[in-house]
Amino acid sequence: MTILSDQLHLHPDQLGAHWMPFTANRQFKANPRMIAKAEGMYYWTPDGRKVLDGFSGLWCCNAGHCRKPIVEAIQKQAATLDYSPAFQMAHPLSFELANRIVEIAPPSMKHVFYTNSGSEAVDTALKIALGYQRVKGEASRTRLIGRERGYHGVGFGGISVGGMVANRKMFGAMLAGVDHLPHTHNLAKNAYTKGLPEHGAELADELERLVALHDASTIAAVIVEPMAGSTGVLMPPKGYLKRLREITKKHGILLIFDEVITAFGRMGGAFASQVFDVEPDMITFAKGVTSGTVPMGGVLASKAVHDAFMIGPPGAIEIFHGYTYSAHPLACAAGIATLQLYKDGDLFNRAKQMAPVMESAVHGLKGGKNIIDLRNFGLVGAIELASRPDAPGARAFEVMLKCWEKGVLVRTAGDNIAIAPPLIVEASQIAQIADTLREAIQSTD
Ligand SMILES: Cc1ncc(COP(=O)(O)O)c(C=O)c1O
Repeated sequence: MTILSDQLHLHPDQLGAHWMPFTANRQFKANPRMIAKAEGMYYWTPDGRKVLDGFSGLWCCNAGHCRKPIVEAIQKQAATLDYSPAFQMAHPLSFELANRIVEIAPPSMKHVFYTNSGSEAVDTALKIALGYQRVKGEASRTRLIGRERGYHGVGFGGISVGGMVANRKMFGAMLAGVDHLPHTHNLAKNAYTKGLPEHGAELADELERLVALHDASTIAAVIVEPMAGSTGVLMPPKGYLKRLREITKKHGILLIFDEVITAFGRMGGAFASQVFDVEPDMITFAKGVTSGTVPMGGVLASKAVHDAFMIGPPGAIEIFHGYTYSAHPLACAAGIATLQLYKDGDLFNRAKQMAPVMESAVHGLKGGKNIIDLRNFGLVGAIELASRPDAPGARAFEVMLKCWEKGVLVRTAGDNIAIAPPLIVEASQIAQIADTLREAIQSTD
C-alpha cells in the first residue's frame, strides 16, 4: 500500500527519528506544524486547515503547488525511465532541459552543469572557478570572495564564502583563503525604500581594497546573491552589481551570481541578471527550476568559462566533478514541464505585473508595532522588526507562528519576515497576507 502524506497521522512520539534541518527540533516536536497536502496557492494541514502559501514553500514553488502538467510529467517519467547513469551515459531530457534553460538565460550563458540542490550548485561553481583559473594558466588564483550576510547553502564551500555567523561558527576553519565584502544593509540611509536602495553602490569598491590587500593574481572569483534572500531580503543598492561587474572584469576575477532564489521569475524576469542588466560569468540556480517538485540545481556557465575546459585529447574527462543524480530523469522531466508552464502562463511577466501590488501591500504596513523597515522588489517583500532585548529573532518568529495559526505561511530570518508567494498569486491573496501580518504584528509585544 502506498503511504501518502494526507493519510498518515503520526503521534508526537513518532517524530524522534527524523533529525530536522534548520529547525528547533525539540520545540517543533512538542508542537508540530505539519503540512499534508497542497494545490495551487494553498497548503492543507492534516486536520484540514487551509493555509495560503505566502512563501512558495521555501522560495521554490514558483508555479504554485501540484500543477497538473508537472505532476503528470513526473509520474509518466518515473514509469518510463527511473534512472540512468550520470557519468559517461545520458538520457535525452537532460539536453532538452539545458537547451531550454539556456534559451531564457542571459545571452552569454551557454552551458548547464547539473546538481541536485543550491548548495551543490554553489560548491560546483566555486570548483569550476578554481578549475578555470588553473586551465587558463593562472593557478595562483585560488582565493574566493563572498559577502557578509550572504547565504550560499551549507556545503563547506558555501558556508566559507557565506556570511551568516550561525551557519559558520560550529564548523571549524572551513575553506582557507576566503575573504568577504561588506554587506549592503543600511537602515540609517535606506529604510523604507521602495525597490532598490539609493545608497550603497560604493560598497562594491571594497573589492578594490581586497584586491589591494591580496593582489588580483590570487583571486579566482567573487560570489554574491543579486538579492540576499535568506539573511532577510536585502536588495542590491542601485548601481552596486554593475560596479562589482566592472571591478571583477578589470582584475580578471570571475563573477558568480547565486540565483538559487532569484531565478525563474522571483524578480520579475527569468534571471535577476537580466532584470538588473548585469551579466556574470556563472549563475547558480535550483528551487524554481522544478518549482520545488523534484530536487535539482545547476550552474550556468558562460561560453568562455566552459570552453576553457575543452582542451586536451577528446577522450579526456574535462572536469572530475559530478553527482550520481546530476540530471536525474525525474528532475529533468519536472524541469521541462515547469519551464513550459512558466512560458504558457507568462509567469515571469506576471510576477513583474504583480510587483506594484506587493509593493503597496508591504509599505501599507508602515507604522505597525515594532516595524523598523519595509523592503520590496519583484514578488518579494520583507518586514524588519526591532529585536527584543536579549532575544533576537523571537519577535518575528512569534509573528510567523501567529500567521500560521491564522492560515498564512511566511518565513522569518532573524527579525525579518519575508514574503515570496508563488507567481500565480492574486492581488486579493497578497492583501490577505498583508492583513494577516498586520494583525499578527499588532498583537505581538
Ligand atoms: C542564494 C542561495 N544559495 C544556495 C542555497 C542553498 O540551496 P539548497 O538548500 O537547495 O542547498 C539557497 C537556499 O535557500 C539560497 O538561497
